[in-house]
Amino acid sequence: MLLGTQRINEAGHLCVGGCDCVDLAERFGTPLYVIDEALLRENCRTYKRAFGERLDSVEICYAGKALLCTAICRIMEQENLGLDVASAGELYTALKAAFPPSRIKLHGNFKSDLEIEMALDAGVGRLVIDSLSEIGRVNETAGRLGKRADVLIRVTPGIRVHTHHYVATGHVDSKFGLSLASSMAEEAVAQAMAAPNLVLQGFHCHIGSQIFGLESFARAAELMTSFMADMHRKHGLVSHELDMGGGLGIAYQDEDAPPTIKELSNVICSTLVKCLADHDLPMPKLILEPGRSIVGTPGLTLYRVGPVKEIPGVRTYVTVDGGLSDNPRPALYDAQYEATVANKAAQARSTVVRVAGKHCETDTLIPEIALQPVVEGDILAIFCTGAYNYAMASNYNRFPRPAMVLVHDGQAEVIVERESLEDLVRQDRIPPRLAK
Ligand code: LLP
Repeated sequence: MLLGTQRINEAGHLCVGGCDCVDLAERFGTPLYVIDEALLRENCRTYKRAFGERLDSVEICYAGKALLCTAICRIMEQENLGLDVASAGELYTALKAAFPPSRIKLHGNFKSDLEIEMALDAGVGRLVIDSLSEIGRVNETAGRLGKRADVLIRVTPGIRVHTHHYVATGHVDSKFGLSLASSMAEEAVAQAMAAPNLVLQGFHCHIGSQIFGLESFARAAELMTSFMADMHRKHGLVSHELDMGGGLGIAYQDEDAPPTIKELSNVICSTLVKCLADHDLPMPKLILEPGRSIVGTPGLTLYRVGPVKEIPGVRTYVTVDGGLSDNPRPALYDAQYEATVANKAAQARSTVVRVAGKHCETDTLIPEIALQPVVEGDILAIFCTGAYNYAMASNYNRFPRPAMVLVHDGQAEVIVERESLEDLVRQDRIPPRLAK
């Protein structure tokens, strides 16, 4: 698996963005998140092109939950994407990076008063209403601040998609959104339209993540347009915007064959054009919220290999200097990854091993993989770790979170500093009675 600017150089080392991964590991330490800027930008542009070619009014809003830090916000701004945030922390990061508030959308199934106020105060473009009680709270806060809030209503279309059940969100039994089936979505429309400080711009749905089946997106588009028609008929609502969420899957393993962004665009756009025509409705602005399919493939993680234990007749364990804390996805979702020994990338893969982390847990990163002959001190690169790795990292076992570097044309720049041991105790307090 070689993606984006990844190459194998004359020394037989894995390179990315023109940087030798072995040098990166030496220079910045391990574990290290590495982001290929060229591939990241290419993914943004592919989305804009694929949807822009089909429809006049499209906005691609990067879902920041997949990976957010201030430098990533800067890149998204330069690429002219919008930004989806789902917490005060994500919003704060975007504002710190001077991301234009009007291109930010606030999500969340339980937005705190602080989050609502912060968003309205900053002038974020859209708030996505996720519950009936939120309508009153947003309306009241907007009134207090003397503002009108542009909102979308998150609708749960009620479809099951083929993905890990932890990341399926579009079915009826979901904590997210307001379901079509229970008519809560319609109730939300009536309430939002009656709220003096809200402007209902349209609807949102997100059916899940790491989805390969395009038919699920088509079905969601059908259900959403028929709901829009219904709301037009019953409430005279003209939906100016339709947000179809994110969710496109990526190839974590060589044998994975996800649809392309272009194929996603073809399915969503042609379904919308047809259904809207059937219902005699104008085309709203189409919004997409991709996370993983923008930032997943441009990321890789470099680890230093520790003890290699061969258990006779059982298997060989290759330990690396990270694990559950920098990538919880194998433990949470049985996520599968490809890897290579970065300093032996040109050699044959002659040994089958299990890659495990260094936590006090069975933190398997890759249950079974054919690798080059691997010994202590080698550098292991795990591919496609850009999405939901750093974003979901923890300090378990009081491991400092790794640094992140952006690589481009032979340059590597730190975009997130490695946490220090001091950082780990920074928030700790010793009550005087326990002091030494
Ligand atoms: N929009 C909304 C409202 C979302 O909840 C999500 C993801 C996205 C967009 C972006 O979805 P994507 O294009 O990245 O699939 N931690 C899990 C994934 C959770 C996804 C949560 N929502 C994982 O590591 O697989």
